[in-house]
Amino acid sequence: MTDNLRNHINEAMTRAADHLGKGRVADYIPALAKVDPNKLGFALALPDGTVHSSGDADEPFSIQSVSKVFTLALALRRVGSSLWDSVGREPSGSAFNSIVQLESEQGIPRNPLINAGALATTDRLIDGRSGDAVAEEIVDFMRARAGDDSVEIDFDVAFSESETGARNRSLAHFMDAFGNLTHPVETVVGVYFRQCAIAMSCRQLARAGLFLAMEGRDPLSGEQLIEPHRARRINAIMMLCGHYDNSGEFAFRVGLPGKSGVGGGILCVAPGQGSIAVWSPGLNEAGTSLAGAAALEHFAYAAGWSVF
Ligand code: DON
Repeated sequence: MTDNLRNHINEAMTRAADHLGKGRVADYIPALAKVDPNKLGFALALPDGTVHSSGDADEPFSIQSVSKVFTLALALRRVGSSLWDSVGREPSGSAFNSIVQLESEQGIPRNPLINAGALATTDRLIDGRSGDAVAEEIVDFMRARAGDDSVEIDFDVAFSESETGARNRSLAHFMDAFGNLTHPVETVVGVYFRQCAIAMSCRQLARAGLFLAMEGRDPLSGEQLIEPHRARRINAIMMLCGHYDNSGEFAFRVGLPGKSGVGGGILCVAPGQGSIAVWSPGLNEAGTSLAGAAALEHFAYAAGWSVF
């Protein structure tokens, strides 16, 4: 079994390497534009704690929108189903930073994985606390999930995001105008920029995602982090919304819940089997890693891990 998985990873990495240099590195956040586009990492974490890795799997990268999955879990744990009063759970079919639907939909974002929805989710997670305390809670959660205290926020990236964050501030102000923000815009974006700027390696991120593959229970610490039905629902949202207007294509090709980030990372959940993180900074039009998605497509196919 393990030999097969190792062969599948090697094959997936070979196929993915064909896509290196083809995508575009995100440059709207200046600190991200400096990353080497030829990086390619893959890590598969299994419920027994084994991690199979390949390529640049130990190099930290900016997790960006992958963080939205973890803040969603934390917000659901903190405020429960009332979260769904402020954010929906339908695919948007729009770009990650789009504002258009907010106007006709009363400031309620379509889902927690687009920027507007992630801002609303972070707002609810703050729940009256200071931004610093909540940013710390998020990083601590990532450290615990990764089983690695070295996970940190990259403050250069957080600062760079804030400097160029007019669009996210606009989304937050727009939701505020509809009464769908419960804290000041700067508090909300301040936490959001920091969660996006968390730096993690594929190995750490794959390990961190294991609880989503195991019905909300971290199989290594034994903690039930969220209720099983909530983990299943997060996976459903990842499947339908994890790649914005590229979510259909990702489901078609990979068949697993996933979440992309403009740093080039993708977290993919194989329910009951394990958790996979890939990283390659060249992106497609929707902000999903080209080589990363190719690696996942080949691995999921070879391993027979599509949920369909
Ligand atoms: O808010 C932003 O624009 C970035 N911090 C995150 C966007 C992102 O990762 C989109 N995902 N592919």
